[in-house]
Amino acid sequence: MDFNKFIVIDFDSTFTKVEALDLLADIIFDGHPEKTGIKQQIADITSKAMEGEISFRQALEKRIAILKPHKKHLEQLAVRLSDQVSESFKRNQSFFKKYADNIYVISNGFHIFIDPVVTAFGIKPENIFANRFFFDEHGNVTGFDTENPLSDNNGKVEQLKRLNLPGDVYVIGDGYTDYEIKAAGLANKFYAFTENVERSAVMEKADHITPSLDEFLFLNKLNTAISYPKNRIHVLLLENIHPVAANILRTDGFTVETLPHALTEEELCRKIENVSVLGIRSKTQVTEKVLQHANRLMAIGAFCIGTNQIDLPAATQKGVAVFNAPFSNTRSVVELALAEMIALMRKLVDKSNKLHQGIWDKSAEGSYEIRGKRLGIVGYGNIGAQLSVLAEALGMRVFYYDVEEKLALGNATKCKSLKELLELSDIVSLHIDGRESNTNLISDREFGWMRQGVIFLNLSRGHVVDIPALRRAIGTGKVAGCAIDVFPHEPTSNNEEFISELRGLPNTILTPHIGGSTREAQENIGMFVPSRIQDYINTGSTSGSVNLPNLALPALENAHRLIHIHENVPGILAQINRILANHNINVVGQYLKTNELIGYVITDIDKEYNKEVIRELRKIEHTIKFRILY
Ligand code: NAI
Repeated sequence: MDFNKFIVIDFDSTFTKVEALDLLADIIFDGHPEKTGIKQQIADITSKAMEGEISFRQALEKRIAILKPHKKHLEQLAVRLSDQVSESFKRNQSFFKKYADNIYVISNGFHIFIDPVVTAFGIKPENIFANRFFFDEHGNVTGFDTENPLSDNNGKVEQLKRLNLPGDVYVIGDGYTDYEIKAAGLANKFYAFTENVERSAVMEKADHITPSLDEFLFLNKLNTAISYPKNRIHVLLLENIHPVAANILRTDGFTVETLPHALTEEELCRKIENVSVLGIRSKTQVTEKVLQHANRLMAIGAFCIGTNQIDLPAATQKGVAVFNAPFSNTRSVVELALAEMIALMRKLVDKSNKLHQGIWDKSAEGSYEIRGKRLGIVGYGNIGAQLSVLAEALGMRVFYYDVEEKLALGNATKCKSLKELLELSDIVSLHIDGRESNTNLISDREFGWMRQGVIFLNLSRGHVVDIPALRRAIGTGKVAGCAIDVFPHEPTSNNEEFISELRGLPNTILTPHIGGSTREAQENIGMFVPSRIQDYINTGSTSGSVNLPNLALPALENAHRLIHIHENVPGILAQINRILANHNINVVGQYLKTNELIGYVITDIDKEYNKEVIRELRKIEHTIKFRILY
């Protein structure tokens, strides 16, 4: 290949996420009572060498003397290191293969564990420079090759001198010894690699800081796998989103900033300019004005169920994909509903309150099992349907009513009308969505249809129940117990008083909209939303998006993927295809879906294409967003 740049890569904490000798100590002293102390001793020796108190070779000798490795430990180490390759190296395997002649791994570590790891990536054995152990006939390490420059101070510099590479040399590493190659005039540029460790002394000296290999490849136009370095995609997560979300996105290479609170419209307008992915919960309002400032925004993750806080039409018109977590807290709501049914059938809250006041009220009067009772579920969606399954497992007889045709799960029975359901149920539980027409769905007339002494639950949306009517129904004894988790007016913060006519009523459980508020649900949401965002950014898949036309796409293999979002006007697909045909481009696959506002076209094309095509595609009138995946 006609390419005269040489790329020199460090091994420990660069090619792999860890320091090999640390991992070796873990393997050798696994289960040893003094493991921590021994590891500390090793770390102390390393830092003495770093600070120049002892020579690099002395440090190596001392550490080997403590570790006393056997060949089998070193072989195990190689296997463990193969699982610890840096994420951005893993996703850029094609780069190593394509530029194999020009890539060198130079390390103060040892061939025995470096070679198996890096050759698996296509690095040529003759381009790996590292130390060699000597072994006795039983496989015990007896020493190392002290003739090798890499076993001593300034080893990397000496090695580079000997190599005398005929072209520009770029060094990528996390340590000071990597920078020294450049300082000695043997490299044109030094890139501080910070994916695994950040050392400020090293970063200060670097020509570029590269948070992942993607960034290095992009800067040098060597990217073969990733079209745009993910570390340049800035993710802002607000409102204390579960940390698992930031971890997932960071591991995938994105730059992630987290804030514990919501931002006001004004703050968000200022902050959003550089943000490509915004994560919010229910408090941050993403208004049209905010979206006007969002020049780089590709996706919004609502780490909750509802998306009312987002101006969806405005987001759609900007080609911003919105994702939420519609099922992640389903189980939590269902568990609370079941707990409340039992609590209400046994008057638990009233009995507990009385006992707190010193009143012993032991009686079976008005207390029932839920087994065998008729549960009427209004709204057989994600939550209603799961409640159906678990309630049956507890021996309840389940009936449901939904405005849409829904498959009955287990032995559940479908009712033809709300009236029919309400008339036969011992317990009524609402799990409908919050569409406007559901306002006051349950009012005097509907309570009138219910059985005397019914148990009533609303864990869906506040406005679907007429609260004064509920109060009257409790007053007449029609409703013998109720659990309400959602209210027409809910305090916006924990400091605001909760005002409701339901306060103080008997056998009435009031909870502050916590149906879905469990650690598990938060964690599920924290995992689910990033997975949708990753899919969208990495593959173009809009599966699960609440506003973009949903397209689940096959994996991209040996092709480039053109992703085009445009206003929904006729003829765009024809224009795209005309441009591709004019350039003789072979289309491998094409997918189109539209909604009222926009069209989403994915075109997979052969790897070989001319850059002019991209310019022309971008210029198509009514284009909202265009990007390309490699
Ligand atoms: P979903 O959208 O999967 O199910 C709602 C179902 O209700 C749909 O099948 C729909 O056809 C049906 N429906 C709508 N209007 C109806 C009507 N008038 N009569 C009969 N059926 C009707 O929603 P999902 O995920 O099951 O959530 C249900 C409700 O629970 C939603 O209102 C949601 O906001 C609320 N929720 C409350 C939480 C809490 O913390 N309390 C947590 C999670 C969800």
